[in-house]
Amino acid sequence: MVIATVKKAVSAKLKDKTLKQIQIANQKSPIPIRHFNFKFDPEKLDIKFYMQKEWATAYFAALSIFLTYGEELVIETARYHRDMIKDPVLKQRLTSLIGQEAIHSKLHNEYNDIMIPNNIPVQFYRYLAEQVFNYTFLKFPQPLKLSLMAGIEHFTAVLAQYMMENESNFFHSDDEKARALWMWHMLEESEHKDIAYDVYQLLSANYPLRIFGFFLAFITLMIGVGTGAMMLPFLRDPRNMVNLSFWKEARESWSLLFGPKRGVFGSSLPHIFDYLRFSFHPNDHDTTAYLEYYKDRLLHPETGLLTSYFVKEFVPPVRASA
Ligand SMILES: [Fe+2]
Ligand SMILES: [Fe+2]
Repeated sequence: MVIATVKKAVSAKLKDKTLKQIQIANQKSPIPIRHFNFKFDPEKLDIKFYMQKEWATAYFAALSIFLTYGEELVIETARYHRDMIKDPVLKQRLTSLIGQEAIHSKLHNEYNDIMIPNNIPVQFYRYLAEQVFNYTFLKFPQPLKLSLMAGIEHFTAVLAQYMMENESNFFHSDDEKARALWMWHMLEESEHKDIAYDVYQLLSANYPLRIFGFFLAFITLMIGVGTGAMMLPFLRDPRNMVNLSFWKEARESWSLLFGPKRGVFGSSLPHIFDYLRFSFHPNDHDTTAYLEYYKDRLLHPETGLLTSYFVKEFVPPVRASA
């Protein structure tokens, strides 16, 4: 009896927080769906794009391939749940999430295609990702997919925040298009980071299920993508096995990804595991100032780094629910 009363009070409090967060998010400016044309060139692909380290770059290459499948899952799950949302602004924001992810997936696939002539086993990795996503994750019941969607979006938000805080990491290479692709993607991941979570909290708010989705995303990202990344330099060029300079930089690559001080994931552990907090919300990690800075840095009509690739943008209309 006491437990039931406490449970009821906690869930009422949580619902209240979710509704308040949704109200705050709804007052933000609408999220546009932006189209770009990068025209990637296989000859310009830098296999040491990230900080001039092949293994660290391999992580981003493997992520670029696997992420498109995660994005398909996000799109499918968001579409399924969109009709259940009564709030017209949250519904519009969910449409923006779907649109942004669809274009991320399309352009990452174009980028992944130019890895093929560079001996990167994209087709093999696509085959592996299809086994995991098409035959496993996409077959999950919708509540679990909703939780996995929120988990995936948490990890992309963590990655986006790290990258926005460490902009210079993208400037160790002449591969301008890889830089444009990742900087644009990270901006948008941060821009829409609260939507999947708000939808999850509104439609489910089941804490154990949210944590299960988090660990599924965590294992996929760390073990799945991590293993793919570790194998990639040897599959690309088996001579790397006996290449002394490759092994010399391997340690550095590890520290760039997992080192506690400056590693992408190593230094983000407090942010990653903050998701386990019962009252966690993505906006507890404020990136508003970064978003303003990057919108100008990337999209300013005259000086934006992405302006020459920009095609058009579209803001989905707010439609009153039937
Ligand atoms: Fe994305
Ligand atoms: Fe996303």
